[in-house]
Amino acid sequence: MKTALSALGKRTAPPAISWLMKTALARPKLISLAAGFTDNASLPVELSRRLLNEILRSPKTGQPALQYGTTAGEPRLRALTASHLQKLDGGHDRAHSAERVIITGGSQQFLYMTLEALCDEGDLILVEDPTYFVFLSILQSCGIKARGVKLERDGLDLAHLEKILTQLKKSGELRRVKGLYLVTYFQNPTGATTSLAKKRGALKLLKRFERAAGHPLYLIEDAAYRELRFDHGEDVPTALTLPGAKQRVIYAGTYSKPFATGARIGFGMLPEPVYTAVLRIKGNHDFGTANLLQHLLTRALAGSGYDQQVAKVQKNYARKARVMKRALAEHFPASVEIWESGGGLYFWARLPKGVSAGVHSKIFQAALKNDVLYVPGELCYADDATRRKPDNGMRLSFGSASEANIREGIRRLGAVLRKFVK
Ligand SMILES: Cc1ncc(COP(=O)(O)O)c(C=O)c1O
Repeated sequence: MKTALSALGKRTAPPAISWLMKTALARPKLISLAAGFTDNASLPVELSRRLLNEILRSPKTGQPALQYGTTAGEPRLRALTASHLQKLDGGHDRAHSAERVIITGGSQQFLYMTLEALCDEGDLILVEDPTYFVFLSILQSCGIKARGVKLERDGLDLAHLEKILTQLKKSGELRRVKGLYLVTYFQNPTGATTSLAKKRGALKLLKRFERAAGHPLYLIEDAAYRELRFDHGEDVPTALTLPGAKQRVIYAGTYSKPFATGARIGFGMLPEPVYTAVLRIKGNHDFGTANLLQHLLTRALAGSGYDQQVAKVQKNYARKARVMKRALAEHFPASVEIWESGGGLYFWARLPKGVSAGVHSKIFQAALKNDVLYVPGELCYADDATRRKPDNGMRLSFGSASEANIREGIRRLGAVLRKFVK
């Protein structure tokens, strides 16, 4: 008998992430440098207990928190989110208003709904090469095509972006392009941060090709790791601060990484008419994110708790990143290029050309045999027939492993690499 599944139901491939998690669970002694989990010891247990106690102390504050809320989210949290972003952006208020904010179940839900609002099957989204692999899974599942734009240490290669847009115009495919997705801070998987000049350049290029596309081309800025900065460099303003942002920038943010992944509160800022479309879609998804958790975040942001938590998290990741950096210097062959990050959860390692670290590679299999797991970089490249998927990258996370396990995991991986790389 045929299945009753929809085209989407049939098309959706198993997420790479569940395969990696299953692999980790099957080997109890395995050290995972693959997980995108945050640091357990840094999670705000006491702070959350205190704030939840405050909320649930009386019916006056407890009942609204335990009731359904509104689809767009708790009004105070929307306002606090807008002012928090405005503060991070140096007081800029070009596109930072509370009316443009929607609170979501993690930024993942926001990204999904944004693609639902923008794209039909066969449409095209430009992405960084490499990029966040769960975003690529959404594209695959929804039948949306992707083109990869080369990524440099300070963000995407603008000349390559221009070349791709020109080619798409010539081939008539520009009409199917809806936007460009960038992970702009301490990128997943490479740790790269996009400079403001590159955000400006990308926005300008998109604008230039709009006439040929026949519709707006959006810059989707995913700033999931923005607040996990631990180097002493200056924070880069978001694309929301640029001219034209109010019409063309879609911003995805999250409180998962800086506060608590288990609370899973994300948010987005959008221009019309995408805002209204996403709001209506969210009405069908869940008509509002878990209200109790929104009240928790509201209290954390309104007091000093949130800032204290972010400072703690930054300090802890700085320490773990230092441990990984030292271990890499000690154990990895010199021919492996390391992209260190000044924030976030990941370092990116590139093996010499021609050496594969992919899922089916000898290196990945030997690493598993030696009980250490990394994310093969090839999983982070879009299905884009115009180029070969590079397979020499490795995403190494210092987020959830203990310091001892980071040291030991990198030592084991280094020993494996020395067998295959000079
Ligand atoms: C780049 C990026 N964006 C978005 C997300 C989604 O995070 P959340 O849904 O917890 O906000 C992640 C999670 O790992 C991520 O790496």
